[in-house]
Amino acid sequence: MSLKSFPFLASLSAAAAGTIAKLAQEAIANDGRFTLALSGGHTPRTLYEILARDYRTKIDWQYVHLFWGDERYVPHDDPASNYRMVKESLLGGISIPPNNIHPVPILSNPSDSSDTYSKEIQSLFKNDIPIFDLILLGLGDDGHAASIFPATPITKTHEGIVIVTESPVPPQIRISLTMNVLDNARNVFFLVSGKEKTEILKAVLAEEGNPDSKYPAARVQPHGKLVWFVAV
Ligand code: 6PG
Repeated sequence: MSLKSFPFLASLSAAAAGTIAKLAQEAIANDGRFTLALSGGHTPRTLYEILARDYRTKIDWQYVHLFWGDERYVPHDDPASNYRMVKESLLGGISIPPNNIHPVPILSNPSDSSDTYSKEIQSLFKNDIPIFDLILLGLGDDGHAASIFPATPITKTHEGIVIVTESPVPPQIRISLTMNVLDNARNVFFLVSGKEKTEILKAVLAEEGNPDSKYPAARVQPHGKLVWFVAV
């Protein structure tokens, strides 16, 4: 695990964007594509805006496949939707084939959304448990990662590749990649910003790699590289 500390969210985001561009270039050269699972919430918006503004031509977006690490079970045009946040901050600024954008489908019930998303992911990866080139994660105030919360049973977080979870804060119903997928990634970046995250970051890092930690973010142990980008 490595930790990169920055004075501001802007410098954190600029550094993450440059690293993502390098990973994309390598993956596209080696495998012909770059598979990226995006995080939601507020922190990554600056990164997405930088990718749309400064990496429009520096990343070969036609070979990039975008997924969501987790989603709120709300319509895609809802202000709380992670898809809407990415559409506003990133998708409008890059030329990426529509078929390369894989949002969590919001269907008539959460388990249909989860199953359908799981099937779409599996159709794009050879392995039973997909190996993403990069998964972006944020750190929740309670130590959650993606939409895996402290109250989410650990056994459940290892069921298949996509699960329905309940958030302690609205929107309550979430769809999330499982710990199986997070741990199978070639690279996982946590993006953490804001003074209010100082204590939870300290607590999570103190338990980093502990499979029994009550903090899901501390349990994320990718087979590949784990990098914390931090501005607290
Ligand atoms: C979500 C996110 C969630 C987020 C953390 C941090 O859907 O809310 O995926 O896991 O990354 O809660 O959120 P902030 O960046 O808003 O602090």
